[in-house]
Amino acid sequence: MRDLRVIPTELLAWYDRHARVLPWRVPPGQGRADPYRVWLSEVMLQQTTVAAVKAYFERFTSLWPTVHDLAAAGDAQVMAEWAGLGYYARARNLIACARAVAAMGAFPDTREGLASLPGIGAYTSAAIAAIAFDRPETVVDGNVERVTARLFAVETPLPAAKPELVALAAGLTPAERPGDFAQAMMDLGATICTPRSPACGICPIIGHCAARAQGIAADLPRKAPKKAKPLRRGTVWIGFAENAVLVETRPEKGLLGGTLAFPSTGWDGSQLPPPAPADWQEIGLVRHVFTHFALDLTVMAARLTAAPERGSLAPLSEFRPAALPGLMRKAWALARPETTARPATSGRRGRPPRSPS
Ligand code: ADE
Repeated sequence: MRDLRVIPTELLAWYDRHARVLPWRVPPGQGRADPYRVWLSEVMLQQTTVAAVKAYFERFTSLWPTVHDLAAAGDAQVMAEWAGLGYYARARNLIACARAVAAMGAFPDTREGLASLPGIGAYTSAAIAAIAFDRPETVVDGNVERVTARLFAVETPLPAAKPELVALAAGLTPAERPGDFAQAMMDLGATICTPRSPACGICPIIGHCAARAQGIAADLPRKAPKKAKPLRRGTVWIGFAENAVLVETRPEKGLLGGTLAFPSTGWDGSQLPPPAPADWQEIGLVRHVFTHFALDLTVMAARLTAAPERGSLAPLSEFRPAALPGLMRKAWALARPETTARPATSGRRGRPPRSPS
């Protein structure tokens, strides 16, 4: 029988020397991190890379240094700052969670207590409990799945292998420094035990790796073939008025809920008329891939000649494309030259609006 207890000891010794320095962390061995910063980083890091999250994290924590500050912020400002990170239901849950925690006074310090909060599921509750409260919870993200599948040479494909991997990772989790252990597994997965060509030669726990012994480390974890995503189509309308652009806030429920957007049709085949009668011109197509489908969105642009029936006019001087979700930013990138290059089609006089930065 292999003695698994040495794995955390050896991995933690490696982490003490090689831990990545990240803005939400405390250095190895220095105890608990601020639960607000751990929570915020973990929510942001779901399905997004560490590199992409850093700037958002710094911005959020400088605007809102505590959970009470975030709880007091306006929904629209938080949504605008979240724009570009994707998964906007998460941002709405972030606001709801901050307010629930502020009402309670502080974050709960157990996995169960954390899991009762909006938007905190099995993964995030375990991560906060381990990293911020030193609870011996097992934290299994994609990196940890890969490391564990290789250590134990698990050949079952994901996602079916998940319960087995969680049980195996639980068997490794030490009673001491569980938060550092979780982050050591993540760092090993991110820097050495990487998906395609793992750097086994410098792995601190190579001697324990069953996949390496069998010569199959780079082939694991196996994955069930992904289903092709259906393609949906829709139309978005970017209407310009004098130094203004037509925008709306999307309904709270549904995709990109609560985000700033240009008026569009539904993306499920449902039709909606343009937001205003105008000489709409097709200016291109943007493609965006969501979790369950791909979307081809035809982008229409026009100079508005009549009052819009939907949305409101945002002055270009106040309009921040950075506050748009990625899909709408792509559409804006196509329309923007229209604001400078094309003269007004309605025959209105005056300089066309300048392209904002
Ligand atoms: N990915 C998710 N959580 C992380 C963390 N705490 N450190 C590094 N990468 C992560």
